[in-house]
Amino acid sequence: MKLKGQHLLSVKDINLDLINELFDVADKMRPYAQRQKVTRVLEGALLGNMFFEPSTRTRVSFGCAFNLLGGEVRETTGLSNSALAKGESLFDTAQVLSGYSDIIAMRHPDAGSVAEFSQGSRVPVINGGDGPNEHPTQALLDLFTVHKELARLNKDISDLSLTLLGDLKHGRTVHSLCQLLGLYKGLKIQLISPQALEMPSKYVDILTNAGHEVVIGHKLEEGLPQANIIYQTRIQEERFASQEEANRYRGYFRLNKQVYSDHCQPGAVIMHPLPRDSRNEANELDNDLNAEPGLAIFRQTDNGILVRMALFACILGVEDQVARYERPVNWYAGLSNEPK
Ligand code: NCD
Repeated sequence: MKLKGQHLLSVKDINLDLINELFDVADKMRPYAQRQKVTRVLEGALLGNMFFEPSTRTRVSFGCAFNLLGGEVRETTGLSNSALAKGESLFDTAQVLSGYSDIIAMRHPDAGSVAEFSQGSRVPVINGGDGPNEHPTQALLDLFTVHKELARLNKDISDLSLTLLGDLKHGRTVHSLCQLLGLYKGLKIQLISPQALEMPSKYVDILTNAGHEVVIGHKLEEGLPQANIIYQTRIQEERFASQEEANRYRGYFRLNKQVYSDHCQPGAVIMHPLPRDSRNEANELDNDLNAEPGLAIFRQTDNGILVRMALFACILGVEDQVARYERPVNWYAGLSNEPK
């Protein structure tokens, strides 16, 4: 498979054939992710998991995915804890750390930083988010979730009517997702944001050039009735010039049970890359939706493990050997690991 030995820096590196192959591998990871079986296919391999920006699920799921394949994880978090704070270049850091790892996952606050790092790396580098630029693994797990959720509704990707909601200007997850959606044809995409936080035109162009029907709007209700999948996002406060400016948009679009039953299709799917901002002044995705079967946010995070396992297996070239290194689980694997 073409991912073998490659960096994954941008979704631009990915085509539809690669996506389909990757998703087939991801499906095969389910028994290991759900602890029905153990595989040791990456025993002895080391992941350098380097997160220079806050992260919970991306960092932990990269680590878990690698552990679930039998590999070991070495973690570095926070710029101030690394020699980058002493003025070391990304190139030098990469030269050093790639001597200690078989593969590196990295998140950094600056756009283009992970690509710069990869130039000094002797091992494959996966972009875990570079500032407002890209988040390719999130986009892949989001697309995987879109496929699974549409299948749950007895639909397929050609039926997709997707509404992206919130801070579309700074959200790297939606920037990467739009590029992947550009690989398909004839979808319906609604882009709903405050006027000042519209999707950058280069991503809108990708969607329109793919022949998608694109609607741009600024009112929550405009994007809800026609959507079978709604993708809510957080106001990316860390990307604004000032906190006051970010505060202006906090709580601008609130999705709750009332709004959902008044404006959305019955059973409409709700996604969110998470974290959802649950502070009162934001509450962009209310807890009163938690029991709604359409709320897919935790199915989405579970899918993150499958997709990241598949990426590690394919990039390290072991995707066909996973079952050869498997054995049964010999501990109590509790209900928490069952699919939701
Ligand atoms: C997103 C990110 O970091 O870009 N989170 C994630 O990786 N799941 C979205 C966000 O922080 O709002």
